[in-house]
Amino acid sequence: MENTGLADNGNTVVEASGGRPAQLQWSSRLTFILAATGSAVGLGNIWKFPYVTGVHGGGAFVLIYLACILVIGLPLLMAEVMLGRRGRQNPANSMANLAREFKVSRHWRLLGWLGVVSGFLILSFYTVVAGWALSYIFDSARGAFDGLSGEQAGAHFGRLLADPGALIFWGTLVLLITLGVVARGVKQGLEKAVNAMMPGLFVLLLVLVGYAMTTGFFMQGLNFLFNPDFSKLSGTSILVALGHAFFTLSLAGGGMMTYGSYLPQHVSIAKTAITIGILDTLVALLAGMVIFPLVFANGLEPGSGPGLLFVTLPIAFGQMPFGALFGMIFFIMLSVAALTSAISLIEPAVAWMTEKYRVSRFKACLMSGLVMWVLSLGTVFSFNIWEQHTLFGKTFFGVLDYLTSGWFLPLGGLFIAIFAGWVMTRRATEQELGRGLGYRLWYYTIRYISPVAIVIMFLNAIGVIG
Ligand code: TRP
Repeated sequence: MENTGLADNGNTVVEASGGRPAQLQWSSRLTFILAATGSAVGLGNIWKFPYVTGVHGGGAFVLIYLACILVIGLPLLMAEVMLGRRGRQNPANSMANLAREFKVSRHWRLLGWLGVVSGFLILSFYTVVAGWALSYIFDSARGAFDGLSGEQAGAHFGRLLADPGALIFWGTLVLLITLGVVARGVKQGLEKAVNAMMPGLFVLLLVLVGYAMTTGFFMQGLNFLFNPDFSKLSGTSILVALGHAFFTLSLAGGGMMTYGSYLPQHVSIAKTAITIGILDTLVALLAGMVIFPLVFANGLEPGSGPGLLFVTLPIAFGQMPFGALFGMIFFIMLSVAALTSAISLIEPAVAWMTEKYRVSRFKACLMSGLVMWVLSLGTVFSFNIWEQHTLFGKTFFGVLDYLTSGWFLPLGGLFIAIFAGWVMTRRATEQELGRGLGYRLWYYTIRYISPVAIVIMFLNAIGVIG
C-alpha cells in the first residue's frame, strides 16, 4: 500500500481486483467525488476567479470562461479521468501504459510529464497564496478587521505583502501541512474534514452573498459579472479565460489523472465529471457575487489584481455582526479548500517518484518539498523585493501563472483531447464511458470541437488570427 496517495485504512480504499497491478482504488464513487471536488474547488474559485474577472473587465470574460468550461473543460475532465483509470499509474507511467496499449510512440509519456511539471510549478505559488488565507484566520480572530475602511483593508494586506519573512513563514507552514498529509497518505480524518468543509464553505458563501445584498451595490456587482461588454476583451483575455477553466477544474496538471487511476471500473465517469463541474462553477460564481458588490460599495478597483479577495472580505467581516467569528471560519474553510487542492497538485509528482524510483513516500515528499520551497521564494519576492524585476511586464509570479495557466495546461489539454479522441479506439473509450447519446456528444466534442477551439485560442493569443 506504500505507493499511493490513499489511506492505508480499509474504509477508504480496497485492493484492486481483476488481476490489475497492485493498485489501490477508491471504495466508492462518493469518495472520488469528494477528493476530485476537493481538488477542483480551491483558491482558483474564490481567490483567482474574481481577480482575473476583475482584471479582464467582467461579464464578457465570465461568458467565455463558462463556454470554455462547457465545451472544453467538461469533456476534458472526463477524458483525463478516463486516461488515469485506464493507465492505472502516475501520469507519466499511465501515458506510457496507454501508448503501449494503443501502439503509439512512447513519447506520449511526455504528456504525463507536462502535467507533473505544471502541477509542481502551480503549487509553488499556490502555497504562498494559501499562506495569505492562513494568516487571515488569525487576523480575523484577533479583531484586526473590526471596522476597516476600504483603504485600511488595502493597507493591511499591503503590510503582509511587504514582509517577505511573514510570507515565507505562512507559505512554509502550508507546504509542511500539505506534505505531512501527502506523506502519510490521504487519511480518513482528512476526508471527513473535507466532507464537512465543502458544504460549510458553500453555506458561508451564501451568508456572504446575503451580506453583499445589504451593501446597496449588489445589482452593480451582478451587472459587472454577468453583463458582457466585449470591447473589454483582448486576445490574452480569451487565453486567460481558457487557462482559468483548466486551472479551476484541475485539468492537465496530472491530479485528475492520478485520482482517476484510483477509480473503480463500474463508476460513471460522465456523471461524476458533470457533478464536479457544476459544484466548481457554482462556488466561483458565488464568490464573484460576494466580492464585486463589496468592491463597488467601498470604492475599490475591480482590476486591482491578486489582492482583491484579501482586501474586500475583511471590510465585510469588519462590519457584519459576529464578523470576527465568521471571518475566522471563512478563512479556515478557504485554507482547507486550498489544502485539498494543494494535495492534488503534488500527489502526481510524489506518485511518480515512488513508482519510478521506488523511494518511500516520505523521501519523495521531502525531496519535492525542498525544491518546491526554493521555487516558492520566487513568488514571495514577486510581491516585495523583486516587485520591480519584471519580464514582459510580469513579475516572477506573473510569469509562472501565465506560463502554467495560459500555455502548459491548455497545451496538455490539447494533447489529452487528441489522445482520447484520435489515438484511443472508439471501442476503448466506449468501454470506459458507456455508450449512448451522451457518449456520442462527448466523442465528437473531444475529437473536433475542443482541440480546434484550443488551437484557435492559441493562435488568437499570439496574434496570428483575430
Ligand atoms: N483547481 C484548483 C483550484 O481551483 C487548483 C488545482 C488543483 C489545479 N489541482 C490542479 C490546477 C491541477 C491545475 C492543475 O484552486
